[in-house]
Amino acid sequence: MKNIFTLCLLVLTGFLNAQTVQSPSKEITVTFKLTAEGRPSYSVNYKNKPVIKESLLGIALKETEALETGFEITNTQNKSVDESWKPVLGEQSVIRNTYNQAVFSLLQKATGRKLDIVFKVYDEGVAFRYEFPKQDKLNYFIISDEKTEFNLAGNHKTFWIPGDYDSQEYVYNETKLSEIDNDKLNLNNGIAVKSIGGRYVVQSPLMMKSAEGLYLNIFEAAVVNYPVMHLDVNTSNFKIKSHLVPNAIGDKAYLQAPAVSPWRTIMVSDDARDIVGSKMILNLNEPSRIEDTSWIKPMKYVGVWWEMHVGVSTWDLSGTQDASQKSVGKKPHGATTENTKRYIDFAAKHGFDGVLVEGWNVGWEDWFGNWKEEVFDFVTPYPDFDIQQISDYAKSKNVKMIMHHETSGSVANYERRLDRALNVMKKYGYPAVKTGYVGKIIPRGEFHDGQSMVNHFNYVPQRAAEYKIMVNSHESSRPTGVSRTWPNYIAAEAARGNEFNGWSNGNPPTHETILPFTRLLGGPMDYTPGVFEIKMSHYDASKTEQVHTTLAKQLALYVTMYSPLQMACDLPENYERYADAFQFIKDVTADWDESKYLEAEPGDYLTVARKAKGSENWFVGAITDENPRNTTISLDFLTPGKKYKAIIYQDGKTAHWEKNPINYEIKTIEVTSKSKLKLNLAAGGGTAISIFPVK
Ligand code: NOJ
Ligand code: CA
Repeated sequence: MKNIFTLCLLVLTGFLNAQTVQSPSKEITVTFKLTAEGRPSYSVNYKNKPVIKESLLGIALKETEALETGFEITNTQNKSVDESWKPVLGEQSVIRNTYNQAVFSLLQKATGRKLDIVFKVYDEGVAFRYEFPKQDKLNYFIISDEKTEFNLAGNHKTFWIPGDYDSQEYVYNETKLSEIDNDKLNLNNGIAVKSIGGRYVVQSPLMMKSAEGLYLNIFEAAVVNYPVMHLDVNTSNFKIKSHLVPNAIGDKAYLQAPAVSPWRTIMVSDDARDIVGSKMILNLNEPSRIEDTSWIKPMKYVGVWWEMHVGVSTWDLSGTQDASQKSVGKKPHGATTENTKRYIDFAAKHGFDGVLVEGWNVGWEDWFGNWKEEVFDFVTPYPDFDIQQISDYAKSKNVKMIMHHETSGSVANYERRLDRALNVMKKYGYPAVKTGYVGKIIPRGEFHDGQSMVNHFNYVPQRAAEYKIMVNSHESSRPTGVSRTWPNYIAAEAARGNEFNGWSNGNPPTHETILPFTRLLGGPMDYTPGVFEIKMSHYDASKTEQVHTTLAKQLALYVTMYSPLQMACDLPENYERYADAFQFIKDVTADWDESKYLEAEPGDYLTVARKAKGSENWFVGAITDENPRNTTISLDFLTPGKKYKAIIYQDGKTAHWEKNPINYEIKTIEVTSKSKLKLNLAAGGGTAISIFPVK
């Protein structure tokens, strides 16, 4: 009797302390409550169906009581926000930020410590974070573990890459949650997170689809002074736990109150276009910290780059080794004054903003491998690279030079030399830098995704902003919308880029249909599209590597892969050979007033239409995976009553990514807002369309 009574009391108090927050549309409901042990928990419903079942929250602290149980709610504050802001560069000129918020202020009675948990509920998903207010009982503290749960309601299909603290450069696996098994995979850097009793660590963002057709995505936003969150998946009951990347001694984060965690995000919709077009991750970041942003510009660029990846020339001066220090016989050095001028001429002739040059500075002879302390000084050019002459020449042609800083993982060395390096860039008028972090990190034992490296990746753009320099990082931790705060952080790689197609088994045709639902949610990617010579046998008959798309799909990627920094990565001579197709890359822009996701299905296809910044020109990109696809799109986004000329770059009749990738057709037709276009995409194919108003 007494037990039943206690049970009833518990259930009753459970109901009493449960509080709900709804999305503006009322389709999403979050329920927050304390469990019988005083532990915070939440659940999420979408259209009255459970999406996240009751899931616990909490933070474990090193050498002191965890912030997990024994809490009471001391205060709840609700508010509704509906505001708009203008990104410096973006997919659209105005971004709306609409959500309902609740702040649950908690007190842990036994320790007297305070913890706030803040929920923001958007129409396309839920975000929450831990906030550690300034308080007497908590000053400096060490997070030993974050105990956030995402208790999924079913065995969803997922697009996952294995947990690796140093790299996201993987092909996605498409399996049920119950079939995740990364012990079978080879990990890039070997710092694998092995399975523990049916639990596997995978990376976020984790894109999923339920059997009922719901699209779900677990990610994070505003990762600042905190490690990256991977996800620990229980493959038998679909309970996911946060898995923070540790530092060299196993700690997760060092904080001082007041402090906040990144936002944990759960997007949900029955329309995949809501996920891929969502601005929730950007909205959850702080506004720009840069006041004068006039120097932050979109850039289309070419570079002394692909020719090294395909083995035509080398980064180092001896010309005998490729990037992985394998002997290649005698090859010319790529970054010579003469060759750079050739690229500058090409950029000027075809209207590109910039030229990237890799292999310009001393160090490449012995850069590859792990844990070399001081390989590059970032200021000393090779003798055959006349930096003064090149910078004068670029200036005379109105072309901007893009610097390259490969750190080979020695972040200690890079931070020591950063200001000197940025000063050299200033001296020679370079407005942008591509950074790289190949290999293991120095300080030794740190990981690319740990707290101190996250801080480094945020620090470089902050420092560079003082010099009015834009940053494009490779091998960094994946972005989580921080480009809103530091808009000069214009792009990052942080996923498996197009380059893998040049020298590995490459990226399967489905790859580019998944990235917009995963990596791109956090910010622009320097994917480096635009390979026209699809098969590497073009360079060396013995090579079997190839790009896993048709040529037309390479064009469509300029629209489907949003980035204000876009490379035309192939060699000038290849573009000259396919000059008619190259016209699309010359015409397409990299900064937009509007973006319309017309069709989307993760792992299958994506069709996007975008209106160029400050103009009436539209560009459409449609891509498919390994399956051919026929579809009809409506051009009702065009201004009614106006006439336009549409140039359609499409796969030819016999095009196929493997059997006939360079087979394409170009046709020009007149269109209006009433037009419907039939698109026929080949296996691994795509369509790119330029639409210009007729004067
Ligand atoms: C890997 C980068 O992703 C690639 O773009 C670069 O060329 C090499 N590292 C060398 O820095
Ligand atoms: Ca890379």
